[in-house]
Amino acid sequence: MKVLLRPAVLKAGDKINMRIILLGPPGAGKGTQAKTLAERLNLAHISTGDILRENASKGTQLGQQAKEYMNKGALVPDTLVSQMLTQRFSQPDIQSGFILDGYPRNINQAETLDDVLKQRNMGIDMVIYLDTSESVIIQRLSGRLVCSLCGRNFHIKNMPPEKEMTCDDCGGRLYQRTDDKEETIKKRLEVYKKESSGLVQHYQEKSKLFSVSADQEAPMVINKIIQLIDEYNDSHKK
Ligand code: AP5
Repeated sequence: MKVLLRPAVLKAGDKINMRIILLGPPGAGKGTQAKTLAERLNLAHISTGDILRENASKGTQLGQQAKEYMNKGALVPDTLVSQMLTQRFSQPDIQSGFILDGYPRNINQAETLDDVLKQRNMGIDMVIYLDTSESVIIQRLSGRLVCSLCGRNFHIKNMPPEKEMTCDDCGGRLYQRTDDKEETIKKRLEVYKKESSGLVQHYQEKSKLFSVSADQEAPMVINKIIQLIDEYNDSHKK
């Protein structure tokens, strides 16, 4: 894994056209960091979990099929997720760069992603792995609260909202995800180890993997990520 050290110079609002994957177990902070990063660097945030939950709450055919797997903590079948991804990649905002959060989850999905990007003359620049310990994951997921309107994440203890069960950003109602129950968290962790953990080596072998210790507080994690992106840009300037 690559470790780069230098103070970050990228500032909020800077535009960078990059394609980044955030990789890590459930609760590593992928959604939290991806949302901040997308806002700060003007990148599209593509969260397969968010797209699936939106479909489930709207009761679409995809949502109804996916819900069954998500509630059990299992992966939604690759064919369903790949169709959804291809559709998302047909939207124009991805041309200016994006952050993928929750995709790929296995080698098959990684290969599908390569194909989808190749058809658009694109490739992944960086895969940022949020390295997190299991005790931290369980503490985070069991206390997570999500805004029903804008999707922002909070945590009962780590990142409490200013007003009880109300989003600081948009005033939406906060709720607990159905898959954040203890038994389902355990199942999701098992699925991650079995299906997704091999992606770390996969991207390491492609020299695309950068690792960040994500047990730290969220602002420290984002600073480290920005620093890595900054270093990457510097070393890839033509
Ligand atoms: P998805 O929504 O992607 O869930 P996940 O991968 O299990 O990840 P989480 O959203 O639980 O965690 P996160 O890493 O985003 O952490 P977060 O930032 O929220 O997928 C859900 C389901 O959809 C899957 O189980 C599967 O069924 C299906 N699915 C999705 N994609 C799929 C695919 N590609 N293929 C097949 N099926 C798919 O943070 C967690 C909590 O910790 C929050 O409360 C947050 O406030 C807090 N927190 C975050 N960072 C910190 C920090 N540094 N310090 C303290 N607290 C923190």
